[in-house]
Amino acid sequence: MLAVIGGSGLNQFPELEIIEERFLSTPYGECSAPLTFARIENQSLIFLPRHGKGHKLPPHLINYRANIWALKEVGVKQILAINAVGGMGDGIAPGTFVVPHQVIDYTWGREQSFNFLLDGYVNHIDFTHPYSARLRDQLINSLTEARLPFQAQGIYGCTQGPRLETAAEIQRLIRDGCDLVGMTAMPEAALARELAMDYAALCLVVNWGAGLADQELSIAEMMQILASGMNNIKKTIFIFAKNTI
Ligand code: HPA
Repeated sequence: MLAVIGGSGLNQFPELEIIEERFLSTPYGECSAPLTFARIENQSLIFLPRHGKGHKLPPHLINYRANIWALKEVGVKQILAINAVGGMGDGIAPGTFVVPHQVIDYTWGREQSFNFLLDGYVNHIDFTHPYSARLRDQLINSLTEARLPFQAQGIYGCTQGPRLETAAEIQRLIRDGCDLVGMTAMPEAALARELAMDYAALCLVVNWGAGLADQELSIAEMMQILASGMNNIKKTIFIFAKNTI
């Protein structure tokens, strides 16, 4: 079973053939929204908007543990995460799609782990490669089939938010090697790994990182790029679902 976790701009997905909506309570509390059980391209799919249906939850207040736990509980094996991000690297201008291959986690104070034991010991998961190679390949093939320009790799620096970064913070992220900056990759990816679920992300760059553009950041412009990229994100999700086995 495939799940899509929608990010900013993808809080609703009316193109889905909805079967039911189910609200799950978990040992970790409530999910961001009811899970939407749906079908696309003859494939079952569960949709969950990370920020809630009306985009009410800021990145640092999302209950990532409840979201991932609920998806596991209903049988999800693969997660495709959608993230709006800022761009920093060469060729990563606003409007670009990126399939990140690495993460640096700058968040703090978020519940990072389910804290369960493995054979009686603390469960130190292997996170060398935070994204599933198989799902990344499938995503790259889907973007190619959709004829969309994209970058097939990138390092995602995950900041705490909800404010955007200072220019100096962006320079630090660049020195660290980050290509993208966003607020929602972590701990989501690590929690999925703890529960042995395959996880990959499709990122849409909606602005230059703070201080990199000539003009100041404009939230209205970010929203506009987000809105115009959404159809292509949905198109990619449809192709991705069709190719999921
Ligand atoms: N910084 C952090 N998160 C973001 C940005 C950004 O510039 N753009 C979209 N999400």
